[in-house]
Amino acid sequence: MSSPKRGEILRAPLLHTPRNPFFDARALEAYWDGALLISDGKIEACGEYSTVRANYPAASVTDLRGGFLLPGLIDTHIHFPQLRILGGLGKELLSWLEELALPEEARMAELSYACETARRFLHALASHGTTAALVFGAHFAPATAALFEAAERLGLRIVSGMVLSDRLLRPELHQTPDNAYRESAALIGRFHGRGRLLYAVTPRFALSTSETMLEACEALMREHKGLRFQTHLNESRAEIAEIARLFPWAADYLAVYERFHFTGPGAVFAHNVHPSESELDRLAASGAAVSHCPSSNAALGSGFFPLRRHVEAGVKCSLGTDVGGGTGFGILKEGLQAYLLQRLAPKGLALSPAQLLYLATRGGAEALDLANEVGDFTPGKAADILYLRPPKDSPLAAVVERADSLERVLAALFTLGDSICVSEVRVEGTPVYCAEGDDN
Ligand code: GUN
Ligand code: ZN
Repeated sequence: MSSPKRGEILRAPLLHTPRNPFFDARALEAYWDGALLISDGKIEACGEYSTVRANYPAASVTDLRGGFLLPGLIDTHIHFPQLRILGGLGKELLSWLEELALPEEARMAELSYACETARRFLHALASHGTTAALVFGAHFAPATAALFEAAERLGLRIVSGMVLSDRLLRPELHQTPDNAYRESAALIGRFHGRGRLLYAVTPRFALSTSETMLEACEALMREHKGLRFQTHLNESRAEIAEIARLFPWAADYLAVYERFHFTGPGAVFAHNVHPSESELDRLAASGAAVSHCPSSNAALGSGFFPLRRHVEAGVKCSLGTDVGGGTGFGILKEGLQAYLLQRLAPKGLALSPAQLLYLATRGGAEALDLANEVGDFTPGKAADILYLRPPKDSPLAAVVERADSLERVLAALFTLGDSICVSEVRVEGTPVYCAEGDDN
């Protein structure tokens, strides 16, 4: 006779979106007295506490009532070298890049500076409840390797790659296509598929990459299995005009990337604030995703994101903080910004709490082509978990005490929740962050 299954039961109200709430009105699954059974780093069961307890009598129970369990948050667009330029307000994309972002990115040539930045960057992700992120690395291979090494030490699920450019930035940030190819291939060999790490081929954007550089990226994608891809697309009108000048043969911005076969599942295009209908249809047909970065779009004045058009065209969408063009590491805050800006945008979509949770979790997993592994609490997936606990006497605590539905709680978590509420974060069941002084 087999012995009863052990493992750990986490008992708390829990919420997740195992289905897509843009197309399924009953996508949110939530339990006031919920339980997750974790065994060997995986979700073994998810449901009512009484049911899970009865089915797993030998499991230990961790009582987390007083807080809320969500799937780990997923950030699908963020730049690690830009940690220290957060808050540079008052510029638009191209002048912000030239005056703030690129000088700081050049500092990543100094490895000790890059290592310290990577350590603090990853700590910031974890302390905001993010368990997986698609990250722009540095223009330098050693600094990008430092990010991967630090992510492995902390245990976060990081998809990243060296940023590639060979024109129009500043000379220190340019590589030759040959060097870009060789150094990227070496990083792929070291890090792609190592533990929780994956590699993403990362041309900065078409503006800073010649066709020869894009061919080098295409070769990397062709020669290695399972790579992800990330870049920027249709972010600002001035950028789009420059792309039209640099690639006169391309019908639109996306056509540049299509020419090198970059669209498809596991490809994530950041921003896409100004797409044509045709670009949306082609993105949807390819299975590529768009990372919506509402704080950055507002801070840099890039424009209102046409979320309704993306959803109606069937384009996969997720959230990105876009540190440092954005305003911080909180994906919950990014959800709130998405909600607020959609309230004001022409033909904006009034986002429901379930849709916000989906964009912050499962939508990110789909964008990264990791939906079979993370993004919700379906049994068999990795136990990537965020435990949020409203601080005593906080406005959030006051709201959730009175809330008569978990949807209402979820709306309050997005509105009032931030890193101050992040009590514990686990990846594959193992803590990667615990709030200091928190006895849970
Ligand atoms: N386009 C090219 N590089 C960048 C960057 O660093 N941030 C943003 N927001 N857009 C970009
Ligand atoms: Zn960006």
